[in-house]
Amino acid sequence: MIRVLLADEGSTAKSEIGRPLYKRSVLIAAVFVVTLGLIIVDFTTWIELDVAAIYGFPLVLAGATRNRRLLWALTALLTITTFVAYALQIPVGAFTLQEKFFVNRLLDVVSLLLIAVLLHIWMTSADTSEAQARLIKDQNEKLEAAKVSRRLVEVQESERRALANELHDLVGQKLTALSINLNIVKTQMSSSPTAQASARLEDSLTLVEETIESIRNVMAELRPAVLDDFGLTAVLRWYAEQFVKRTGVATAVIEERPTRRLPPATEEALFRIAQEALANVAKYARARKATVTLETTPQVVCLTIADDGCGFDPTAFHQPAKDHGWGLMVMRERAAAVGAQLDVESAPGCGTRVIVSLKGDPP
Ligand SMILES: Nc1ncnc2c1ncn2[C@@H]1O[C@H](COP(=O)(O)OP(=O)(O)O)[C@@H](O)[C@H]1O
Ligand SMILES: [Mg+2]
Repeated sequence: MIRVLLADEGSTAKSEIGRPLYKRSVLIAAVFVVTLGLIIVDFTTWIELDVAAIYGFPLVLAGATRNRRLLWALTALLTITTFVAYALQIPVGAFTLQEKFFVNRLLDVVSLLLIAVLLHIWMTSADTSEAQARLIKDQNEKLEAAKVSRRLVEVQESERRALANELHDLVGQKLTALSINLNIVKTQMSSSPTAQASARLEDSLTLVEETIESIRNVMAELRPAVLDDFGLTAVLRWYAEQFVKRTGVATAVIEERPTRRLPPATEEALFRIAQEALANVAKYARARKATVTLETTPQVVCLTIADDGCGFDPTAFHQPAKDHGWGLMVMRERAAAVGAQLDVESAPGCGTRVIVSLKGDPP
C-alpha cells in the first residue's frame, strides 16, 4: 500500500512542477511581446503612450513571472529606450542638463528603478517563504512516513503474536489430541493387530508428529517462545542453527560476556533485526561465514551481524525504493523504537556489518 502511495505522490509532484514551469515560460514570452509591442507602437505610430503604460505593463507582468533576471533585463531595456527616444526627439544642439524634457525622463527612469527594486525585494521574499514552506512540508512528510512505518512494525508484531496464538490454540492442541488418540488406539490394537492396520497406524502417528513439529517451527518463527523463556542469546543460537541448516552459511553466535536480560520489547527488536540482517546475508551476500555478536554491559548493548560476503554501498539505500531497501528501513525503525541506533558498515567486496547499539538503560 505504501508503495502505491509513494508512486502516486511521485507522479503528482512531477506534474505540479511541470505546470508552473510551463506557465512561467508563457508569461516571460508575453512580457517581451508586450514590452516590444508598446515601444514599437509608441515609436512608429501617431499614438503617444504614457511612460507609465510602457513601464507599468511589462513590470507587472515581470512581477508575475518572479524572474529577477527578466526584471532587470526589462529595466535596462526600458531605461536605454527612454534615453534613446529622448535623444532622437530633441533637435541637435538643444540639449542642456536643465532642459525640461530631460529632467522628466530622468525622473521617469528613477521611478522605474524604484519600482524594479521593490519588485526585486518582493520576489526574493516570496521565494524564501516558498522555500521555507517546502522545507516544512518535506519534514512533515518524512515524519509522517516514519510514523507509518513504526506503526507497520507494531502491527506486524501483534499480527504475528495473534497468528502464533491461534496456531497454538486451534491447530496445535487438536493435533496433540489426535496424537494421543492414535496412541490409545495403538495400545488397544496391540492385542490383535493386523499387519496392514498396524503399518497405517504407525504411519499416521509419524505424520501427526511431523505436523506438530512443523507447526511448532512456524510458531517459533512467528513468536519464538525461547525468547520469552531463555532470552536473546538462546533465541539467537536457536535461529542460527536453523539458518545454517537452511542456507549452508556457517553462522556463529558469540556472547561477549554473560548477557543480562533486557526489556521484552528490546529483546524482540534486536532478534527481529538479526533475523532481517541474516535474511539479507542469505539473499545477497554470497558469504561463507556469518557472525552474530552480542555484548551487554551496564552501559551498552551492542548487537553485530557480520558477514564475509560481497558487501554493498549502504549510502545507495538511505531511502527505500519501490522494490528494495525496506528491510534496512524497517531495521532502523525497530532500532529507533527501542532507543537504539543502527549502523551499516559495508563496501563492495568487503563484507557487511550491521551494528545495533543501545546506550544507557534500555526503555
Ligand atoms: N549483507 C548484505 N550483503 C550484500 N548486500 C546487502 C546486504 N544487506 C543488504 N544488501 C543490499 O542492500 C539492499 C537493501 O536491503 P534491504 O533494505 O534489506 O531490502 P530488500 O531485502 O527488501 O531488498 C539489498 O537489495 C542489497 O543489495
Ligand atoms: Mg532485506
